Amino acid sequence: MSEKLSDDQPVRWGILGAGGIAETVCHDIVLTDGNSVAAVAARDAGRAADFAGRYGGSRSYGSYDELVADPDLDVIYVATTHPSHRSHALLAIEAGKPVLIEKPVCLNAADAREVLTAAAEADLFAMEAMWMRTNPLIRQAEQLISDGAIGEIRGVRAEFGAGVPFDQHHRMYDLDNGGGALLDLGVYPVTFAYLFLGRPSRVTTTGRIAPTGADMTVAMQWAYDGGTGAQLWCSSAIPAPNQAVVLGSTGWIATEGAAHRPTGLLVHTAEEEYRIEDPIAGQGNGYGPEIAEVERCLRAGLTESPLIPHADTIAILELLDEARAVLGVKYPGE
Ligand SMILES: NC(=O)c1ccc[n+]([C@@H]2O[C@H](COP(=O)([O-])OP(=O)(O)OC[C@H]3O[C@@H](n4cnc5c(N)ncnc54)[C@H](OP(=O)(O)O)[C@@H]3O)[C@@H](O)[C@H]2O)c1
Repeated sequence: MSEKLSDDQPVRWGILGAGGIAETVCHDIVLTDGNSVAAVAARDAGRAADFAGRYGGSRSYGSYDELVADPDLDVIYVATTHPSHRSHALLAIEAGKPVLIEKPVCLNAADAREVLTAAAEADLFAMEAMWMRTNPLIRQAEQLISDGAIGEIRGVRAEFGAGVPFDQHHRMYDLDNGGGALLDLGVYPVTFAYLFLGRPSRVTTTGRIAPTGADMTVAMQWAYDGGTGAQLWCSSAIPAPNQAVVLGSTGWIATEGAAHRPTGLLVHTAEEEYRIEDPIAGQGNGYGPEIAEVERCLRAGLTESPLIPHADTIAILELLDEARAVLGVKYPGE
């Protein structure tokens, strides 16, 4: 148990890195009653000030050190690119701040263990921003499956293709900036399969590598004792519908729209087929449930969200490490 935040004031967010996802998530933070964008830091002070100006004139800093030293912040959102997640999360934790860390939480499982252990030892909240797991439709699918709506689980199919043409300078292809389909996109289908099936007994991985050395398209076959399996696919270059399906002995549940942000669920049971509407349709960019979960945990004094347990975050990175090892993809310094 960590110190609980009072219910009387909004959770004051400090945004570390003023890039694409920071903008998307801040848009949703300011839609909530219980949270505010209190400060933002970027490597460039002018860019940080511009960003802050778009979110109610919050404080802005030209260095991350100044941000984490700000005493009037309740949580730091690490929204830089993934090679920096480890050092930026540790910077915040060492300054005594809880952290929400963008996905993938780190480049590899060893770094993730270090960061999450540091947070636990400091009695501070830490969570990977794996927003898919907080999505109400995904949670409803979990509930339906545990209620036996589709019988016994037999398998999962999930994919994420981004359709970004090869460009050696693009973040997704630049190994120095954490480029690679597995870490950027594959983390979603892997998390989806892990959520419903747990750790596989055997994994077969195959893939195509971009000229920069980053993995570009990857397919994985997971096998479990007892015959259950998963087919998972991700690609930086190829566009895809990005749906996911859980297959059961008497039916199936499929996401409508991308599995990381579904717009509905299609449930096919032995008796009927029906659609479940998106309960957060039209509510910002879809990050509201993730923001609400951070707020809930901070107000309850939790150091870990039961929706995104540290052990799962680490196990998923171990699976991604193993897949990268098969493909021979290494990041600088690994
Ligand atoms: N949850 C989601 O839906 C979602 C969606 C997209 C991305 N993400 C994740 O969020 C993270 C950021 O993605 P993004 O699309 O927002 O990336 P981005 O806009 O390219 O970069 C984010 C920030 O990282 C810093 N940065 C970027 N390139 C850098 C470099 N070469 N060296 C040092 N710092 C660099 C910059 O911080 P300054 O502003 O301080 O300069 C930049 O503003 C990634 O880990 C990604 O996987 C999550």
